[in-house]
Amino acid sequence: MRLNASLPALGAALAASLVSLTSHAAVSEADEALIQKGEYLARAADCSACHRPPEETDKPFAGGYVIASPMGDIVASNITPSHEYGIGDYSEAQFKRALTEGIRADGAHLYPAMPYTAYSGLTDDDIHALYVYFMHGVEPVDEPTPETSLPFPFNLRFSMAAWNFLFLDDAYTYDPEQSEALNYGRYLVDTLGHCGSCHTPRNALMGESSDRYLSGANVGGWYAPNITSDASGIGSWSEDELVQYLRTGHVENRAQAGGGMAEAIEHSLRHLSDDDLHSMAAYLKQVPPTATGPAIDVSQAPHEVEPVSLATLEPLRSDDTQAMVDADSIDGQTLYNAACASCHQVDGQGTEDQFYPSLIHNTATQGVNADNLIMSVLQGVHRETNDYTVAMPAFGEQLSDEQIAAVSNYVLSQYGNPELEVDAARVTELRQGGPTPLLVKAMPWLIAAGVIFVLFVLGMITFLIRGKKR
Ligand code: HEC
Ligand code: HEC
Ligand code: HEC
Repeated sequence: MRLNASLPALGAALAASLVSLTSHAAVSEADEALIQKGEYLARAADCSACHRPPEETDKPFAGGYVIASPMGDIVASNITPSHEYGIGDYSEAQFKRALTEGIRADGAHLYPAMPYTAYSGLTDDDIHALYVYFMHGVEPVDEPTPETSLPFPFNLRFSMAAWNFLFLDDAYTYDPEQSEALNYGRYLVDTLGHCGSCHTPRNALMGESSDRYLSGANVGGWYAPNITSDASGIGSWSEDELVQYLRTGHVENRAQAGGGMAEAIEHSLRHLSDDDLHSMAAYLKQVPPTATGPAIDVSQAPHEVEPVSLATLEPLRSDDTQAMVDADSIDGQTLYNAACASCHQVDGQGTEDQFYPSLIHNTATQGVNADNLIMSVLQGVHRETNDYTVAMPAFGEQLSDEQIAAVSNYVLSQYGNPELEVDAARVTELRQGGPTPLLVKAMPWLIAAGVIFVLFVLGMITFLIRGKKR
C-alpha cells in the first residue's frame, strides 16, 4: 500500500529531476555554445596576438607582451578573469567600453595599440559572446604585468581623449545594398580582423588615413602591401588565392607571409572557417582601387634567368649560416650563392614543390619597395600553419647592413624588380624598426613650442601686472 502510494510520487520526483536535468543541460549547452562563439570571435579579432605572455607558455591572455610603438614600449594587459591582475571585476558594460571606446574600468584611456578604433564597430551580440568567453572560458592567471611608461607627453593618458575625438568613430555600418556575405566580409576585415591597423597608412597624428584605406603601410620595418582591388594591389589575385594566403600564408608564384602577417595567420586567420575566409576575400576583391604604383601581376612576371653552371658555384655553396660571418664579401652574387641558393636555388626559381619559394614570382621582390626582402633576410620567416612549419633562417646577426644591401641588390637585379635599389642606410633603418613617424620626430619641437608658448603667456601676464602697478 505504502509502496503503491509512493511509486507514483517517486515517478513524479524522477520525472521532475529529469526535467530539471534536461533543462540544466539545455542551459549549459547554450552557455557552451556562447563560449565557443566567443572563442571563435576572439580568434577572428586576434586578441591573443597581443595579450600573450612575453614567452611561449600555456597561459593564454596573461599579457606582458611588449608592443614596440613609435612612442615607446606598450605592455599588453592581463585579460584573464583574474580578480587581482586581470579583468575579473569588469562588468559587461565596462568590457564593452574598453573594447569600443578604449577606456579602462578605472576610467583611464587606453593607448590605441589596443585596436579599439576597429573594435568600435563590434555588435552587442558579439561583445556579449566575447565577455562570456573571457569570464567563463579562460583560465584566470594571477600574475601582474609590468606598467607601461611612455615618455612625456605620451604618458598623459587623457591626451588620448583628443585623439579619440579625431579618429574614433563607429567603423562598421551595415550596408543593405550589399549581400550578407559582403557585409560580413567587411565586418571581418574592418572590425574583427583590424587589417587597416597595418595595411592603412597613418597621417601625421598617427590616425588611419581613410582616403588611403588598405593601400599599404610600414609596420615595424615590414611593409604591409596595398590590398585594395587596384592592379597595383591584389587586383590580379583570384578569390581562391586570397583565401589560400589568409589560411596558409603561402600562394605559389605570388607571395609568402612574414613579419606581422605571419603572426596574424598563425594566431587568427588559419583558425577561421572557409565561409568566413571567402567572405573576406570577396570583400577585398571589391574594395575601391587605390593605385600605389604600376600594375603588377607577379605570377606572370617575365624573367629570363641565365642558366648558371652548378660546378662553378659548388665551392661557394654552404648550409652553414655561421660560415657567412667569416665571409666578409660584399659581392652580392657570392653572398647569394653562399647564403640563399641552397634553398631558393641558383636560378632563383625555388624548389620544384615551391616549399622554398621562387624569388621571381614574389611580391617581396617585385613590389613597390624592397622592405620585405630586406626584412626577411634580417629576421627570417617563421610561421605555423595547420599542416606544417615554415622557417627561413634570420641572417641579421651574420650579415652586415652593407652585405644585406649587396645580396638584396643582386636578388632585385637578377630575379626581382631591377628598378629598385637598396642602400645600407635603409637596412640600418629597418633593423631599428623602420622609419620614425612624423609625430614622434616632431615631438621635441612641439614640446619646445609649448614651453615657448607658456613663457610668452607668463611674460604677458608679468607685463600686464607691472603695467597695472604703474
Ligand atoms: C594589436 C594588439 C592588441 C589586440 C589585437 C588586442 N588588444 Fe587589448 N590591449 C592591447 C594593449 C597594448 C592594451 C593596454 C593598452 C594600455 O596600457 O593603454 C590592451 C588593453 C585591453 C583591455 C584593458 C585591460 C586593462 O584593464 O588594462 C582589455 C579589456 C582588452 N585589451 C581586451 C581585448 C580583447 C577582448 C581583444 C580581442 C577582441 C583585444 N584586447 C585585442 C593590445 C591589443
Ligand atoms: C600586424 C600587421 C598586419 C595585420 C594585422 C594584417 N596584415 Fe596583411 N600583411 C602584413 C605584412 C607585413 C605583409 C607582407 C608580408 C610579407 O610579404 O612577408 C602582409 C601581406 C598581406 C597580403 C599579401 C599581399 C601581397 O601583395 O603580398 C594580404 C592579401 C594581406 N596581408 C591581407 C590581410 C588581411 C585581409 C588582414 C586582416 C585580416 C591583414 N592582412 C592583417 C601585415 C599585417
Ligand atoms: C633554409 C632555407 C632558406 C634559406 C637559406 C633562405 N631562405 Fe628565403 N625563404 C625560405 C622559406 C622557407 C621561405 C618562406 C616560404 C613560405 O612562407 O612558405 C622564404 C621566403 C623568402 C622570401 C619571401 C619573404 C616574404 O616574407 O615575402 C624572400 C624575399 C627570401 N626568402 C629571400 C631569401 C634570401 C635573399 C636569402 C639569402 C640571404 C634566403 N632567402 C635564404 C627558405 C630559405
